[in-house]
Amino acid sequence: MELIRNINQKPPDFMEAIHKFHSKPTGFLLLAGTNGTGKTFSSKAIYNEYFVEDSDFKMILNQSDLNIKWQEQMEKWNSTLYLLNQIVNTKLLVLDDIGTRVPSVAFMDFLYIIADKRHEKKNTCGTIITTNLNAKDMREKFGDAFVSRVASGICVRYDGPDRRFNNF
Ligand SMILES: Nc1ncnc2c1ncn2[C@@H]1O[C@H](COP(=O)(O)OP(=O)(O)O)[C@@H](O)[C@H]1O
Ligand SMILES: [Mg+2]
Repeated sequence: MELIRNINQKPPDFMEAIHKFHSKPTGFLLLAGTNGTGKTFSSKAIYNEYFVEDSDFKMILNQSDLNIKWQEQMEKWNSTLYLLNQIVNTKLLVLDDIGTRVPSVAFMDFLYIIADKRHEKKNTCGTIITTNLNAKDMREKFGDAFVSRVASGICVRYDGPDRRFNNF
């Protein structure tokens, strides 16, 4: 509970979204907002406090980590089915910083399949997505079908001050 309590200094709707998902971590939580507003920090807090007996049943990856894993499996086996199954079957999935890099079309397809499969499991599994994109840009980059799935649960946007920014 400690980390969750520490997500302070955020607007009430941001806090409410975090608490709501934390109390029932199924379906999607979409945390959108500008850089340094605490999206990664808040998702990690939920992730760290999510209890599963087998740690294989929770995964936290940002888009770049996922892209590296995906490329490795493509090069090794010419298939990413193993990775896809791992991601689809995990109880809690955090996909951090979606949209920060422009993905290849093939990788975008992979992200769409993940969103679709996780949406099918929305009653039993939880997925947290964080992004700097606004709804319009996300639709343009990832398509309506992707957005329709990842925005099907709790969505919150916070364009607050950058906590990393140090009088640069
Ligand atoms: N509630 C908080 N309490 C203390 N530090 C925080 C909090 N939220 C964010 N931070 C710190 O602010 C910085 C930016 O947060 P981060 O979650 O990485 O932002 P984002 O993912 O939105 O770009 C990090 O160093 C993080 O540790
Ligand atoms: Mg982040």
